[in-house]
Amino acid sequence: MTTYLEAEANPIRNTGVIRLYDAAAFEGMRRACQTTARCLDSLVPLVQPGVTTEAIDAHVYDFAVANGALPATLNYRGYTKSVCTSINHVVCHGIPNDKPLREGDIVNIDVTLIIDGWHGDASRMYPVGPVKRSAERLCEVTYRSLMIGIDAVRAGGHVGDIGAAIQAYAEGERCSVVRDFCGHGVGKLFHDAPNILHYGQRNDGPEMKPGMIFTIEPMINLGRPHVKILSDGWTAVTRDRTLSAQYEHTIGVTETGCEIFTKSPAGLDTPGFDFAMAA
Ligand code: MF3
Ligand code: CO
Ligand code: CO
Repeated sequence: MTTYLEAEANPIRNTGVIRLYDAAAFEGMRRACQTTARCLDSLVPLVQPGVTTEAIDAHVYDFAVANGALPATLNYRGYTKSVCTSINHVVCHGIPNDKPLREGDIVNIDVTLIIDGWHGDASRMYPVGPVKRSAERLCEVTYRSLMIGIDAVRAGGHVGDIGAAIQAYAEGERCSVVRDFCGHGVGKLFHDAPNILHYGQRNDGPEMKPGMIFTIEPMINLGRPHVKILSDGWTAVTRDRTLSAQYEHTIGVTETGCEIFTKSPAGLDTPGFDFAMAA
């Protein structure tokens, strides 16, 4: 006799429930996330003046296919590219196009690769040739914001501890934290519960438990935190047109802290920048 499962009984959609993953899932996430990290590593020599973001998009697509992966953004909610490329005052969700990168630009490249249904989501800043000290400093503050957020992850704490730590640090550096986008649960779903805010109060939000998997992806501005969306429906820019930067890791909560699934195997988590790295 054939039995059927009610599809709605275990829907693969965001129901607001926070999923706790087992060891096999952690292994699946390690594979997807390490492929994403290697893809970001492989972009370092490509990001040069004169290169178009479309060429970066093609590289990410080819890398994915060559590694048995699928870019999660391709045809996601009407998005038609394999990567987001966010230059200078673009906060996030920049769409690759045929405009060449220029010396002095800073570009966030955000890659999500799917392997066996698991999503590995990460982004880094890439300098295009030499960049201004203010741009380099923003990238440094943003990378440190991410790592300080990761340091706040521990079972028994609350997700608000992450945002509180990031906000205190970034604002202390006279930068601002974007409020309109957040980190997210991730796994077989690209964007799942819980939301991970990059600002807020300690002890707010759901308790962190071993087995949770989510991203932390602070967007930090040199000016004010406010953003607007361009008429393409995707590109988010700073309202005051000041520089914005973002770094993103996918992490899993463990009994003792967390595992950074998207760590660069080549130590290129801050590509092209030689500022001292926070562990
Ligand atoms: N990778 C982004 C994130 O960190 C999401 C991009 S969705 C897209 O969550 F449709 F804009 F590509
Ligand atoms: Co993300
Ligand atoms: Co991302």
